[in-house]
Amino acid sequence: MKPTVAILGAGSMGETFGLGLLRAGWETSDLSIADRRHERIREVEFLTGITATLDAAQAVAGKRVIVVAVKPKDVPALLEQIRETLAADQVIVSIAAGVTIASYEKELPDIPIVRSMPNTPAAIDEGMTAYCGGTHADTEAIKDAAAVLGAVGDTIELSEDLLDAVTAVSGTGPAYAFLLAEAMTEAAIREGLPHYAAERLVHQTLRGAGMLLAGSDKSAFRLRSDVTSPGGTTAAAMYALEEGGFRTLIEDAIRAAARRSRELGRTAAGDSDG
Ligand SMILES: NC(=O)c1ccc[n+]([C@@H]2O[C@H](COP(=O)([O-])OP(=O)(O)OC[C@H]3O[C@@H](n4cnc5c(N)ncnc54)[C@H](OP(=O)(O)O)[C@@H]3O)[C@@H](O)[C@H]2O)c1
Repeated sequence: MKPTVAILGAGSMGETFGLGLLRAGWETSDLSIADRRHERIREVEFLTGITATLDAAQAVAGKRVIVVAVKPKDVPALLEQIRETLAADQVIVSIAAGVTIASYEKELPDIPIVRSMPNTPAAIDEGMTAYCGGTHADTEAIKDAAAVLGAVGDTIELSEDLLDAVTAVSGTGPAYAFLLAEAMTEAAIREGLPHYAAERLVHQTLRGAGMLLAGSDKSAFRLRSDVTSPGGTTAAAMYALEEGGFRTLIEDAIRAAARRSRELGRTAAGDSDG
């Protein structure tokens, strides 16, 4: 049976989860949403059909899984609002970047906590979410949390110390692909392709390559080798990328994102989206 869900914070991720749960077969009556702005409440209710409220405690009442989808800096105030209503048979599923399980457990002793890091392709049910259960999260709590997170894509359970790396790889990852798309499109236009054709070629190529990689038994290295013949066009392109330090740049970018995630976790007061 699907667990009932309250979504606290009706921003872009809150809306993504609301719509994703509906697509996955949840009924509007199994769901509730809270936000702190009146116009947003009206908008999200209109968009999703899910009852939305300004009162987070009211949204939480009677729901099994509570998705915390506010910015990290807003988590403490939100927990203050719902602390009295929460019971040990409910599960907090946090998607707030960098906010540790320990910081939740300090505020909410005895409440099962699951910390997670989704990404934006969740909007089309192609998300990648890593999650980790806290001290009081038993098998049933983890199962219900995973069901909710899995409604919008793939999930993987990992230890909490790896979540900064996850943030840097899959949380931030879509932006790497978008930057690659931008760069390829601009280069294509400089090679003489009209803008509309450049975009179409790039988007479908990245989509096709991603699907091939995800659906194949072969590694990325193997798939790349398959299209690289000695002295050919791909070999020339790969040589230019390696000469320009492509790998080192990607490694530096992932290290910088992981470092930033750790910093945000220490302050738990950043306003990054991960
Ligand atoms: N976006 C991503 O790519 C991504 C990926 C992974 C994880 N995350 C995490 O997801 C969380 C949400 O991100 P987002 O991009 O969806 O943020 P967002 O668009 O700013 O949405 C957060 C919403 O929560 C509302 N809110 C704040 N405090 C509240 C409270 N006490 N009660 C009710 N509503 C409250 C905000 O209202 P106001 O507009 O008034 O502030 C806003 O509407 C963040 O913690 C982020 O780290 C995001």
